[in-house]
Amino acid sequence: MDPRIHLVVAAASHNYAIGSNGLLPWRLKGDMLFFQLITTYFGIPPSALDTAPPNTPNYVIMGRRTWESIPSKFRPLPNRTNLILSRNPDFARNNPSLLTFATLDAAIAYAKGSKPATSSIFVIGGASVYAEALARPDCGYVFYTNVQVPQHALEGIKFDVFMPAEFMDGSAFRRVADEEVLSTILPRKVVAECCAGGDLTVSENGFQYEYQVYVRNNL
Ligand SMILES: NC(=O)c1ccc[n+]([C@@H]2O[C@H](COP(=O)([O-])OP(=O)(O)OC[C@H]3O[C@@H](n4cnc5c(N)ncnc54)[C@H](OP(=O)(O)O)[C@@H]3O)[C@@H](O)[C@H]2O)c1
Repeated sequence: MDPRIHLVVAAASHNYAIGSNGLLPWRLKGDMLFFQLITTYFGIPPSALDTAPPNTPNYVIMGRRTWESIPSKFRPLPNRTNLILSRNPDFARNNPSLLTFATLDAAIAYAKGSKPATSSIFVIGGASVYAEALARPDCGYVFYTNVQVPQHALEGIKFDVFMPAEFMDGSAFRRVADEEVLSTILPRKVVAECCAGGDLTVSENGFQYEYQVYVRNNL
C-alpha cells in the first residue's frame, strides 16, 4: 500500500469554485474520464494494467454531500472501494450497505489497515475534507484540474463550494513539471485516454482545462 493519500479535484481558475447547488458546476466528459481513470488505475503496477477491473481496488474517500451529489445509478463508484464520511449516526444506520466513518482519520486508518497491499487512497471532496487531507503529512499528490469557465457559462452558475487553495502557495506543495507528470506520474492509460498528443490542456464545449499535479515538497 502506498503510505500516502492523494487528492483529486477540479476547480474554477478564477475563484477556485468546485461546487454549485449540490453538484459540479459543469459537465466535462474529459475530466470525468480523467477522474475515473486516475482514481481507478493510479498505483496499479504497469504489468497489471490490462486487468480490468484491477484486482486491488483503490479507495475513494468523500464527504456525505459529495456522495449524495453522485447520481444513484453511478454510485458506489465502480471498481473502487467507496468510503463515506458523516458525523450523523443516522446516516450510517440508514445506509447499512455503505462503509461510513465518523472521521477522516478513521476512514484512512481503515483503508491503510486493510488488504490488498497495492491500493492507493484518494480523497475526492468536498471542501472541508480536502482541507483536512491537505494538512496531513501523508498527503502526497494533488491531481488538480484547473478549469477556465467561459463567460457564457459563468452567467448561469452560482458557485457555493470552494477549494482551499492555500496549498498552492509553495510552502508545503510544489507543482510538478508537465514532462514529469506525463512520463512518470500519470498511469500510461490515463495519458493515452485523456492527454491526446501528450497535451495536458483540453478544450471542451468552450471550457479549457489543464491537468496539473502538485506534490508535497519533501517527496
Ligand atoms: N469539483 C470537484 O472536484 C468536486 C469534488 C467533490 C465535490 N464537489 C462538489 O462539492 C459539493 C459537496 O462538497 P461539500 O464541501 O459541500 O460537502 P462534503 O464535504 O462532500 O460533505 C460534507 C459532509 O461530509 C461529512 N463530513 C465532512 N468532513 C467530515 C469529517 N472529517 N468527519 C466526518 N464527516 C465529515 C459531514 O456529513 P454529515 O452532515 O452527514 O455529518 C458534512 O456535512 C457538491 O457541490 C459537489 O458536487 C466538487
